Amino acid sequence: MSIDAREFRDALSCFGTGVTIVTAVDSTGAPVGMTASSFNSVSVEPPLILWSVTKAALSADAFRMASHFAVHVLGAHQVQLSNQFARSGGDKFDGVNYRVNAHGVPLLDDFSVLFQCETWAVYEGGDHWIIVGEVKEFHREKIPSLLFSEGAYASATPLGSTQEEAAELAEVGRDPIENTLIYHLSRANTLLVSEFHRAISAQDLTLPEWRVLTALNAVDGAQDIEALHLRTSLHPNALRDLVYTMQDQGLCHRALRGQKIFARRTEKGAEIVRKLMRVAARYEAEALRGVSQSEAESLRNLLRQVIENTSQ
Ligand SMILES: Cc1cc2nc3c(=O)[nH]c(=O)nc-3n(C[C@H](O)[C@H](O)[C@H](O)COP(=O)(O)O)c2cc1C
Repeated sequence: MSIDAREFRDALSCFGTGVTIVTAVDSTGAPVGMTASSFNSVSVEPPLILWSVTKAALSADAFRMASHFAVHVLGAHQVQLSNQFARSGGDKFDGVNYRVNAHGVPLLDDFSVLFQCETWAVYEGGDHWIIVGEVKEFHREKIPSLLFSEGAYASATPLGSTQEEAAELAEVGRDPIENTLIYHLSRANTLLVSEFHRAISAQDLTLPEWRVLTALNAVDGAQDIEALHLRTSLHPNALRDLVYTMQDQGLCHRALRGQKIFARRTEKGAEIVRKLMRVAARYEAEALRGVSQSEAESLRNLLRQVIENTSQ
């Protein structure tokens, strides 16, 4: 079987990960850093971790040669920092607070978990270097970590129990958390959204494809990767692959103008959006069974108000 690189990357992106920034110093003493999701645990005794760096990265040699490095597992509030360290070249540390450890390795002030490592082994793995580190010191802040899945940043919301389990729990006795707005919003969201996600899969669509389709449907003309990135929050690299795959499926038209990639909706894509919006309306009607029109309108307004209050 010959492996199509784009489809391979796309399949790999289904494996959700955390996001880290790995730092070290190069041979001239300058700090180097890059965003990496390839971080993983290896061994507890001795304490080993690994990550892999593409040979194409400007800092690849610095990391390969470094005797020490640090891995910062990012918190859910650090998307902007992740993007800053994912841009190749330039001064990634500009405006970032950090100190250096005894080996000159930059330690960022803000993180969810920090692992300070000594390089234990470096292996060649195709177009990447696999770097194994022995953890010498680590520090954990109890804040939610940033996640990355299917080309998009995310934060974890534990999947709620099934409806049956929830009913059983309700009979057993009421948990005080169940009286909070946070509980009700999160449960209603989990139940409604997971049902809608099944409808999306039934159209043979992935969630990122659905997000791109709705973004394309919002305007008549073509949109470039940057515009799609702003509308969908999907990472530009993932979007570049995605519009290719979606073109193959007839879901969008793709065009190259100069260096820029543009995508435009197709009739097939627009039809799928219309179909799924009808499904969404059916789910919504079902979820609002027994609720009057004016109550439903009030609910929407209240939720809008909650969103506005919390996004300030
Ligand atoms: C979420 C995310 C995860 C990434 N993970 C890796 C990774 O594990 N290994 C890698 O080599 N590049 C990864 N990258 C890309 C690098 O961050 C990017 O190539 C980096 O800017 C290279 O910097 P340099 O060329 O200045 O050394 C990732 C990018 C993002 C946005």
